[in-house]
Amino acid sequence: FVPNDCVLNTDSQQEIIITGPNASGKSTFLRQVALITLMAQIGSFVPARAAKIGLVDRIFTRVGAQDDLATGQSTFTVEMNETANILNNATPRSLVILDEVGRGTSTYDGLSIAWAVAEYLHELGPKTLFATHYHHLNELEERLPRVKNYRIAVKEDGDHIIFLRRIIRGGTDRSFGIQVARLAGLPNPVIKRARELLETFSQEKLRGQSVDVAQIPAARVNQGGLFDEPVPENPALEELRALEIHEMTPVQAMIKLEQLQKLALGA
Ligand SMILES: Nc1ncnc2c1ncn2[C@@H]1O[C@H](COP(=O)(O)OP(=O)(O)O)[C@@H](O)[C@H]1O
Ligand SMILES: [Mg+2]
Repeated sequence: FVPNDCVLNTDSQQEIIITGPNASGKSTFLRQVALITLMAQIGSFVPARAAKIGLVDRIFTRVGAQDDLATGQSTFTVEMNETANILNNATPRSLVILDEVGRGTSTYDGLSIAWAVAEYLHELGPKTLFATHYHHLNELEERLPRVKNYRIAVKEDGDHIIFLRRIIRGGTDRSFGIQVARLAGLPNPVIKRARELLETFSQEKLRGQSVDVAQIPAARVNQGGLFDEPVPENPALEELRALEIHEMTPVQAMIKLEQLQKLALGA
């Protein structure tokens, strides 16, 4: 486990915006701070080399996104109900943990809600950790005096990424979504196609145009573009096709089978 420091105060660092790719360690950091604060409140030792923790009146968390099937609420309504409860009840003495608020709806709706929530909390005053994949929220540091940006350090090695699990100062403007998808094992053709689409989307965005979906090039399934070079056939298959099974004795079949297996294994 990689330990991380956290400083929250009321004058210069009241609200921390944490950006980082999926699976980089944002939620873990939030949980660490929430749990250590809770443990300190009940008078327990805390797993930290040093800790100075003030009294909090409440710890509010908005973490995880699961449909509440039992009561028929969608992910998004659950998320908004919990967020509303936080905004309506938090005080300057509270600790607020927000994990990916706004994720449950479309991109721009979500971003707008996340932004407005972050501004409101800055004004309201509780110590706040806000993990988000909306990099735009990094803008807030420029505009609001007590907002500070942090990110999870990521090491790039060519096209691969390595998560360092360390929280460092500063925002980010990259999400590494496709690299993370590859780490997770999405098939290569899907990764290639996603890259190609991303290219199209970002070019259109650069030119200030909204993306014209009709103009997106079709996947080149049959032109060899999507699947790299054809996978060469295993030579064992050729021999297998040529076999005259009815002409063989059981012993010959056994011997042939052994040869084929060797061939298939590339021996
Ligand atoms: N500080 C850390 N040290 C070691 N491993 C970590 C640390 N933080 C996260 N991880 C690993 O990364 C995984 C994903 O972390 P998580 O916090 O869920 O990422 P995110 O919220 O950014 O998607 C965790 O399940 C854990 O295995
Ligand atoms: Mg998370």
